[in-house]
Amino acid sequence: MKLLISNIKTLVQVEEIPRKWVAGTDMANLNCIDNAYLLIEDEKISDFGKMENMPNYDEMEGFDHVEEIDATGRMVFPSFCDSHTHLVYAGSREIEYTDKIKGLSYEEIAKRGGGILNSAKRMHDATEDELYEAAMERIHEIISMGTGAVEIKSGYGLTVEDELKMLRVIKRIKETTPLTVKSSFLGAHAVPAEYRGRQGEYVDLVINEMIPMVAAEELADYIDVFCDEGFFTVEETDRILNAGMKYGMRPKIHANELDYSGGIQVGVKYNALSVDHLEFVGEEEIKCLKDSETMPTVLPGAAFFLNMVCSPVRDMMNAGLPVALASDFNPGSSPSGNMKFIMSLACINYKMLPQEAINATTINSAYAMGVQEELGSIARGKIANIFITKEIPSVEFMPYAYGSNLIDAVILRGQRL
Ligand code: NIG
Ligand code: FE
Repeated sequence: MKLLISNIKTLVQVEEIPRKWVAGTDMANLNCIDNAYLLIEDEKISDFGKMENMPNYDEMEGFDHVEEIDATGRMVFPSFCDSHTHLVYAGSREIEYTDKIKGLSYEEIAKRGGGILNSAKRMHDATEDELYEAAMERIHEIISMGTGAVEIKSGYGLTVEDELKMLRVIKRIKETTPLTVKSSFLGAHAVPAEYRGRQGEYVDLVINEMIPMVAAEELADYIDVFCDEGFFTVEETDRILNAGMKYGMRPKIHANELDYSGGIQVGVKYNALSVDHLEFVGEEEIKCLKDSETMPTVLPGAAFFLNMVCSPVRDMMNAGLPVALASDFNPGSSPSGNMKFIMSLACINYKMLPQEAINATTINSAYAMGVQEELGSIARGKIANIFITKEIPSVEFMPYAYGSNLIDAVILRGQRL
């Protein structure tokens, strides 16, 4: 199977030599080729360049059956990598949304049975098939919006059986979609009601029962903990990460969303792949992230939806750090997986340049989910997960036109969908 895309107005995020991430002032640079071609062979990107240098494929051996797309006026981007979602869930929580509009606090909503525990109850009542069908609808939606790789967390189960159920659904999604999927075990997302006042015992359950069973079925790539004020402490996080790492799960955690929680420090201590949310980041946290292999990941959708303070993204970039962006797609704090809108939020609320936002949603978020060697940029040998835009005047137009669907065609693993 060969697919040739010609007359591309701009081929975006091109790499001759793939990098692991883009950091600091480099994030404002986006490598692009105007008037370009892109050749895909089987599942992979095999060549690209300027139209004037395009080989005469018509006359080359083995090129009799090349499918061709003329992309005149349109741009080609590598698919977004969404490195943080909770997109397997049952039901929705728009009632809480309305309660919030009416002025109820998070605590009041939780007292009424809302929040993560509300989703946990619905998770318990749903069958694996129901969960799979609902999640696949979301998967199709994010594919149509340009996402080519997604990380999905458990964490609405909160019992051994229900956490396994959720992770089995994620595994089934992995096996049945052309998207690249990574899974994280987030048993320590919230303390279930029946363990209230006995949080330590729930942590023991996560460590002694859940993690070994998750590992035995090979259900998780990563281990996650909601390490924050009112949720899990640094000491508990430390224990859980250690237990997960013994089974080969690299940490990738929720940190510093609600306070200077020490989450970033414990994440870096255990070489977390990413630390995510990061509303509360000061000099100490930035110092800790410097010279680490941990990707600071910001979730503008959750901050927007919950009206939170913005993460100091510019301070992190000024300090030379890389920054990734993800959707946090979940029913409580970010009911959308629209990565183009995430870029718009990053530009408007965090003053990121469009180029920085594109680097943060492609190459850097690929790193944040451990797929940077095969995804996140247009590079020879990488998996051909790309999208073709509608006719647009510039790269900046993507986040600028924040409400418009500008995606014309999606290609995953070399196949046009
Ligand atoms: O990433 N911060 C923790 N957990 C989720 C919210 C989950 C929920 O409210 O259902 C988040 O925002
Ligand atoms: Fe999250």
